Amino acid sequence: PSGDLALRPGENPRVVAHRGASGDYPELTLVAYENALAQGADGIECDIRMTLDGHLVCIHDSDTSRVSEETRKVRLSTLAELKTLDVGSWHLRHRKPEPPLALRELLELIEAYPQARAFIETKHPVVAGGRVERALAEELRYFGLDRPRSHGESRAVMMSFSILAVHRFGQIAPQIPRVQLRHYRTGAKPLPAENYGIQVVGPSIDTIRAKPFLVEHWHQRGLAVYCWTVDDPADVELCKRLGVDWIGTNFPARTLARVNED
Ligand code: G3P
Ligand code: CA
Repeated sequence: PSGDLALRPGENPRVVAHRGASGDYPELTLVAYENALAQGADGIECDIRMTLDGHLVCIHDSDTSRVSEETRKVRLSTLAELKTLDVGSWHLRHRKPEPPLALRELLELIEAYPQARAFIETKHPVVAGGRVERALAEELRYFGLDRPRSHGESRAVMMSFSILAVHRFGQIAPQIPRVQLRHYRTGAKPLPAENYGIQVVGPSIDTIRAKPFLVEHWHQRGLAVYCWTVDDPADVELCKRLGVDWIGTNFPARTLARVNED
């Protein structure tokens, strides 16, 4: 495949910290991202949702029940209300309070790591009717992350399981690369000829384990491959052998070490 998201010959897969270094720190918090970037991750992955007052916030689920003592629906809460929650103490290795992170704060952090890419995944885009995609494009533009670096590498990548969201985002900000994420049940089905205008296909590791030949198939169609979530050493090895371009992992430090060992 062409484009700056494809590996060059002889390169090892690049490592994306899934929800930050979320194996060791609470997912989607500042401390998880600071550690991922300090560990040398090539990119970070982040899930975003829109709050009642129109801010983008880094929260995976539609409500906070999995990561906080208090249950709040994200779309029915203001950013200020969400900011009062503790989404850190639940994590058994961390056990310290952390507030939820606004996307803006994450993008500020990314600015300090010019080699790292932000893989931003929109959740429930259909409900918000295009507002999430427009707001994401605006935030990326505000931080100058919507343009490639001088040597042509993109700084930010948009991802979604929703074809509609990927398509809408492509109309708003066609210069920002897009990933079509695919669950196991749909991952092995062919993409239509026009590839939805995407640059990258994002299968789960289950798909790659079951049908490893798909990596070559997608590469031949000009698509780079982003595989998630790859923590097991055997899976890291498989992705490396197949030439997967990007791997998402909850443990960036140890995955980087495995990817780059001989
Ligand atoms: O990186 C893609 C992956 O994060 C998709 O699944 O549920 O973890 O957002 P999920
Ligand atoms: Ca995600």
